Amino acid sequence: MNLGLNIDHIATLREARKINEPDPLEAVFVAKNAGVSQITIHLREDRRHIHDDDVRAIINASVLPVNVECACDEGIVEFLCEQKPHKITLVPEKREEITTEGGLNLTQNNLKEIIKEFQKCDIQTALFIDPKKDTIKRAKALGATGVELHTGEYANVHLMLYSNLSRHKNAIKSLDLTRDTLSQKLQMTLSEITTCASLAEELGLGVFAGHGLNYQNASAIAKIKSITELNIGHSIIARAVFTGLERAIKDMLELIK
Ligand code: PXP
Repeated sequence: MNLGLNIDHIATLREARKINEPDPLEAVFVAKNAGVSQITIHLREDRRHIHDDDVRAIINASVLPVNVECACDEGIVEFLCEQKPHKITLVPEKREEITTEGGLNLTQNNLKEIIKEFQKCDIQTALFIDPKKDTIKRAKALGATGVELHTGEYANVHLMLYSNLSRHKNAIKSLDLTRDTLSQKLQMTLSEITTCASLAEELGLGVFAGHGLNYQNASAIAKIKSITELNIGHSIIARAVFTGLERAIKDMLELIK
């Protein structure tokens, strides 16, 4: 199982002060030495964490393959065609969201053209989608080279079932359910992810997964054979605050390898 380390949160910390540290570029070197396979960064339309200069510097460092997440925004597409990261993952984006909510809507008009544009620049293109069979088939028809399955619902159910979040002020209100219902929901989301991963593999797509994965819930996803890459950010950077980044990465790698 390959680990893609999402380092947006390092830039988030920098932007909390609007100065020049911590620099996400430094994390790239630590990540490589700790056994990470790919660096993932999200260039948001509002540039709230990663900036254009970060994208340039991280790609130019050429230390690890770089996966840039972005929305279907004309200016960003043009910029990324110039920068040529290893992979682009197209994600939905709303200004007001805290993090990416839900998968990409594959019926939007410009998707096929954008994927073609990236292909012309020799950039692999994955679509970040909810684990639904029809969506996987549509991703294939659109010409994507891979799919990243959204594990957010699975992760939220897991958190509400196995952590103290249900008693916390940040409890997820839509998941205020009995333990039995949460348990069933967890099995359902896991089986949806498993079914969709094998369908995507059968269709010849690269199969990746991510969002909300942490030290408690990642190993069940890592056991799904068709999935070859997990993109994980928040939980690793959160642990790194206390253990250092290298230790936090190695702890995750031990769980998912
Ligand atoms: N994959 C995608 C497509 C994402 O948008 C994100 C969040 O930026 C992640 C993975 C990483 O999610 P998390 O920070 O919850 O591990």
